[in-house]
Amino acid sequence: MKNIKRNFLQIILIISISQQAAASLASSIKPCVRNSEKYSDCVIDAINALKPQISTGVFGPNLAIETNLTKLVVGNVSVNQNFNLQLSGLYALGLNNFKVNKLRISPEKFKLDSIISFEHLDAFSRYSLVWNLGIFNLQGDGDLTISIDNPKVLLKFIGSRYFKNDIEYLKIDKTQLNIKSAQVKVYFDNLFNGQKALEEAANEVVNQNIDIIKGDVFPIIEQNIGKIIQKMANQVFESASYDEFFPLN
Ligand SMILES: *[C@@H]1O[C@H](CO)[C@@H](O)[C@H](O)[C@H]1NC(C)=O
Ligand SMILES: *[C@@H]1O[C@H](CO)[C@@H](O)[C@H](O)[C@H]1NC(C)=O
Repeated sequence: MKNIKRNFLQIILIISISQQAAASLASSIKPCVRNSEKYSDCVIDAINALKPQISTGVFGPNLAIETNLTKLVVGNVSVNQNFNLQLSGLYALGLNNFKVNKLRISPEKFKLDSIISFEHLDAFSRYSLVWNLGIFNLQGDGDLTISIDNPKVLLKFIGSRYFKNDIEYLKIDKTQLNIKSAQVKVYFDNLFNGQKALEEAANEVVNQNIDIIKGDVFPIIEQNIGKIIQKMANQVFESASYDEFFPLN
């Protein structure tokens, strides 16, 4: 009786393990052999080829993630350094039109460094601003439009491998995202309660001082977007085993 019971448990165990193993890589994702010389190039091609899937969040019948890069909602951002700026409902359009330019990956202790470029991004938000800027005492709330040309972004992942039901998976533990360069233009609508001439002059001065805005706002945006990207990456990496993404040969 004891033996039968144990056999039964073993069978259940084997069935559940093989079902786990059957949850395999979405067909849109191209695996890259991790001990090959072309490993980094393969990963660049694989990521660039995933643009349609990353744009919609849908990678296959069994893998759909909640976020997509077509419209990336960053949320609320608050900055209180050289100026006092509250952004609410900040979102970016166009992050799905990315290109991975450079990438270095070390598979064993999982580390990935990449440089990603975009031709153009737009972002929109509600804002509330108080800024003492030279002769202007800027104050207002309304709509903020941000236009970004040729941004280049450094994206780093540090990950680790872990076992679940005897199957090895990859998890990203740390993400670093830095905007290395970008031509940014902003327009704060409704500064000076809609006095258009003043509003336009003030926006010109603001854009002459865009480096101050970049310096104060970018670090917060970088952190927020880094977190979102890490969450997306982890939803993808938990969908299949490490060996399916990065087979040994
Ligand atoms: C991706 O985002 C866009 C813009 O918000 C939205 O229209 C689309 O439905 C989203 N795709 C999915 C699969 O959620
Ligand atoms: C963002 O800010 C708006 C306006 O201040 C507020 O109504 C909303 O609840 C905030 N959302 C989050 C997620 O904090």
